[in-house]
Amino acid sequence: MKINRSILLPFFALLLGLLLAGCHSMNTVQHYQQTIPWEPNFDEQRMPPVVLPDALKCLNGKKVRTADEWLRYRRPELLRLFEETMYGKRPPMPDHVEYTLLSEKDDEFDGMAIRREILVNFRMDNGRHHDMVVLLYVPSRAERPAPLFTGLVFRGNHALTDDPSVQATGQRYPKTPEKQAEWEQFRGQRKNSYPIRTIIERGYACAFASYHDIFPDRIDGWSQSIYRLWHDDAELAARLPGCSSIGAWAWGISRVIDCAVTQPEVDGTRIACIGHSRLGKATLWAAVCDERIGLACVNDSGCGGAALSRRLIGETLFSMFNKNHFGEFWFTDTLAERSLHPENLPVDQHELVALMAPRAVSIHSATEDNWADPKGEYLSAYYAGPVYRLFGIEGLTSREPPPPDTPVGETVSYLFRTGRHDLQIADWEHYLSVADAVFNTPKPE
Ligand code: GCU
Repeated sequence: MKINRSILLPFFALLLGLLLAGCHSMNTVQHYQQTIPWEPNFDEQRMPPVVLPDALKCLNGKKVRTADEWLRYRRPELLRLFEETMYGKRPPMPDHVEYTLLSEKDDEFDGMAIRREILVNFRMDNGRHHDMVVLLYVPSRAERPAPLFTGLVFRGNHALTDDPSVQATGQRYPKTPEKQAEWEQFRGQRKNSYPIRTIIERGYACAFASYHDIFPDRIDGWSQSIYRLWHDDAELAARLPGCSSIGAWAWGISRVIDCAVTQPEVDGTRIACIGHSRLGKATLWAAVCDERIGLACVNDSGCGGAALSRRLIGETLFSMFNKNHFGEFWFTDTLAERSLHPENLPVDQHELVALMAPRAVSIHSATEDNWADPKGEYLSAYYAGPVYRLFGIEGLTSREPPPPDTPVGETVSYLFRTGRHDLQIADWEHYLSVADAVFNTPKPE
């Protein structure tokens, strides 16, 4: 039989291509196994040397020298790089947003606060819609509008209080009686992480919503997330290219702010946002993107948050994609392949902190939270310094992290709290004192 050679050529080319691709992926995995242990590494000596990208150096090689150049060229460039590399495109605004007051209670905390629940309805001209419920507390005896603490929270709004009249929120999947009972069990579970009475006593308003109401924290959360405003079920059956749940959560934080500032008791010019762990990652990204936020309180945010990606200590981007699989929806899809080599990423997280300049950022770590790489979280804050300096603001002055429970810094501040991975009252004490300084909040009598 005579074989046509012109058919064989593309066949062999394809075979060769497949072989080469196979070898390549074997090499990268082998390389990873030799250089980065699959088991988490907590030993600085075993960490490959870290060379950080220069926050001030533009992609065209030019170095920015002034705050103006930073704002005009480098900041937009870095924002775009963080979208492309880490968090995906920022979702747009919905066509319409409607607020409906669901409840109001004016005698919270011995009459010190008014509590409201507000239904936020996002509607599109194409008929699609999505909603969330914001839980808001405002001081009732303030002489002028109060500064705001805001953010997304784990579980639901009911996790922040024992009060049975606060709606259980955040349950996005089939509401069977068993599931509903299980969800109800979270009531009050996170009240120690959100000392609302103290926040009010210190003169602040606060507004929170469940992160599940923005994007349910699961790999198949897409179909119940805000992305359904712009995409149909078929598209949401798999992950959306160039999008992420952290991107959605950050968007959600901005929408909680939109809602809170409609309230006459809230001062829209003094806004702090706060988030713990995966929500610390989202908080930092939200604050970078939303310039209304004057202070970002980034608690134990770890890898993909404040911690430097190039330091292979504790959790790594690679393990997020390949071990616990959070990476597969928390971050943009293109990071999956690149997570193997954080040293080749065009950004590192000190540049994310730097994008806050000249606004305030407070980063906390916990002594028992090696998974989040406390030193990497500190160094991000430290290496954001040169950008703050362009604005005439001194960042952190020592490359060495401070000892536990010794806060350092002002506009850029850091606390290494004793204890476990958690948002605790000691964290709030520091965040509130930073907010007092940033927003000039008078001390309560
Ligand atoms: C896991 C995850 C972290 C994340 C944390 C949390 O530990 O690996 O990246 O910050 O969960 O959100 O509690």
